[in-house]
Order: sequence, then structure tokens, then C-alpha cells
Amino acid sequence: MLLDKNELPLVSMEFMNEVHFEDLAIINELYELVIKYENEKNIDNENKINKKYMQWYNHTVKHFEGEEIEMLEKGFPPYHIHKAEHENSLNLMNQVFKQWQETKDIQILKQYLTGELPKWLINHIQTMDTVTAMFLKTGLSPCSAH
Ligand SMILES: [Fe+2]
Ligand SMILES: [Fe+2]
Repeated sequence: MLLDKNELPLVSMEFMNEVHFEDLAIINELYELVIKYENEKNIDNENKINKKYMQWYNHTVKHFEGEEIEMLEKGFPPYHIHKAEHENSLNLMNQVFKQWQETKDIQILKQYLTGELPKWLINHIQTMDTVTAMFLKTGLSPCSAH
């Protein structure tokens, strides 16, 4: 397992926590497939990774959209800052996948999953998602605090 449930920070909106746990489950499944491929490099294991990565990407698009729709509806002032982090993250996911496709070097995926990704995810939840969830719940935003 790459990441344990206990390692994910909780935010004050349950719908967000649920999506984060789904995300975590897919990431852990992907990581297992990466390890499997590392030990046994064949087309079947490669296809499994690609399928799982696509599932993860599509889930992430919905994950981010779900938060963005709520922020827009409730008029969250730093909406664009939060959305920009989502976009950067999706771009990196695409870039890493492309590199993996071009090189078939499994270390590219492994390094991303063990390094940049969990760091980003935990930091993003601790900052953007936490502040957003608090605003959705209470109407309080750090931008309106004096
Ligand atoms: Fe999130
Ligand atoms: Fe977010």
C-alpha cells in the first residue's frame, strides 16, 4: 500500500472526504500494479496500469469539478487559486503518463507515485480543500477575514 487512510487529512465537508478516500483507493491500486509490472514486465501488466491510470484521471477530473461547482455556487472568493492547483495537477498527471508511454520506464510512474503525488495531495487537502470546506460549511473565507 502506498498511502494509508489515516494519512489523509479530513476536511469539514463529508462529500469531499468521500471523494478523497475513493481517490486514495485508486492510487493504491495503481501503485500495486506498478510494483507488479516492475517485477514482471509484460503487455498484460502494462495494459492494467494504463487502464487504472485512466480510471484515476477520470475520477480526478470529477473530483476537481465537484469542488469547483460548489465553490462557484457558494461564491468562494479564491476560487481561481484553488482551480489553478487542480489544473496544474491534471497537467502533471498527463505529462507523467505521456513520459511513461514514450519510454516504458516504470520508474517514472513509481517516482511520481511515491514522491510528488502524495506530497501534493496531502498539501492540497491541508490547504485549499480545508479552507474551501470550511467556507462551504460556515461561509467564512480567509479572504474576507480582517
Ligand atoms: Fe479535493
Ligand atoms: Fe481541491
